[in-house]
Amino acid sequence: MRVVSIVGARPQLVKLAAVADAFAGTGHEHVIVHTGQHYDANLSDVFFEGLGIPEPDVRLGVGSGTHGVQTGAVLAKLDPVLKELRPDWVLVYGDTNSTVAGALSAVKQGIPTAHLEAGLRSYDRRMPEEHNRVLTDHCADLLLAPTPAAVALLEGEGLAARTVLVGDVMVDVCLRVAERVRGTAPRGLPDGIDPARPYLLATVHRAENTDDPARLAALVDALASLPVPVALPAHPRLLARAREFGIELRRGAIRLGEPLPYAALVAEVLGAAAVVTDSGGLQKEAYLLGRPCTTLRSTTEWPESLAGGWNVLVEQPAADAVFAATVLRPAPSAERGTPFGEGRAAERAVRTLEEHVDTRAGAEPGMVVRA
Ligand code: UD1
Repeated sequence: MRVVSIVGARPQLVKLAAVADAFAGTGHEHVIVHTGQHYDANLSDVFFEGLGIPEPDVRLGVGSGTHGVQTGAVLAKLDPVLKELRPDWVLVYGDTNSTVAGALSAVKQGIPTAHLEAGLRSYDRRMPEEHNRVLTDHCADLLLAPTPAAVALLEGEGLAARTVLVGDVMVDVCLRVAERVRGTAPRGLPDGIDPARPYLLATVHRAENTDDPARLAALVDALASLPVPVALPAHPRLLARAREFGIELRRGAIRLGEPLPYAALVAEVLGAAAVVTDSGGLQKEAYLLGRPCTTLRSTTEWPESLAGGWNVLVEQPAADAVFAATVLRPAPSAERGTPFGEGRAAERAVRTLEEHVDTRAGAEPGMVVRA
């Protein structure tokens, strides 16, 4: 079986680490195509090195642009690559522009397409990721769902026949890395953060939070006013928008740092008193690692993380005592359970691709065969 994984942005590289590892123990051919959506070394290369992912076989080098330009550039560059490779499966990950472009290029060439992390919804149509998820789920042939809730949601959208529950591959990677770094001092903390004293870990990068000047200013004010130092490893989008809008990030409690390699991020979560974020991945990592999380959004694609108060949504954080009390609430006593699986999702995903590959035999280019 030949499987082409299409990745391009940071969270996809984490998922790829688990999948590449699961393929390594098989006789299958696993080809990695990197779209180049993320091109900064600290958003891309360090993940390959740090997580032991094989070098990409093909690099499309699309870079940044508007959503249409970026998505279109991946499509245009991917078409000939997939035409030549003619894999048994194209595997796309998560919800980025690279995901929807990869799925479209593959299905339009009649190549069986599987979506890993299918069935997540925020129902927030301002989010580019929400468009990408819905479109990818509805065009892919096989939907690899991370949770029972995602399976139920796909059933509700009429996609039950294409859906298989495999668990969340990010759990595989998070638990593996946590095992390695637990007990080690976090490295790469911004200047001004003492790992021996309580600190918070915050990230902000979503377009809905960064691209409106008033909203970004309010979020930064709220973080700066917290009574505990806040480590803020800044995504390039946050830096770019803050510069554009004249918003100073280095003030109050905020200690600005660089985006982190995965192991360093996990170590910083383990060392932190709590997490404040708008990242889907980090909400879950906080949950898995047992740190209270405050999510700067009105919805989450991971509602399981809300159980017992481990994750709390705050849409309009203010520079006040209410926000501080929410962020600094003690870790809940509620058991966390394993709603995202137990860390063997990538193996299950590979097995599911194997099991469904024969049903595709005889598919002609341009013809989509349903499971
Ligand atoms: C993308 C994903 C988002 C994911 C995030 C993880 C979409 C729609 N969004 O958002 O779901 O959570 O990745 O990081 O696909 N930039 C750099 N260097 C880079 C990459 C980007 O400087 O290596 C800058 C560019 O100015 C670019 C901006 O960041 O315009 C945004 O990058 P882009 O890849 O378009 O989206 P993200 O915000 O990273």
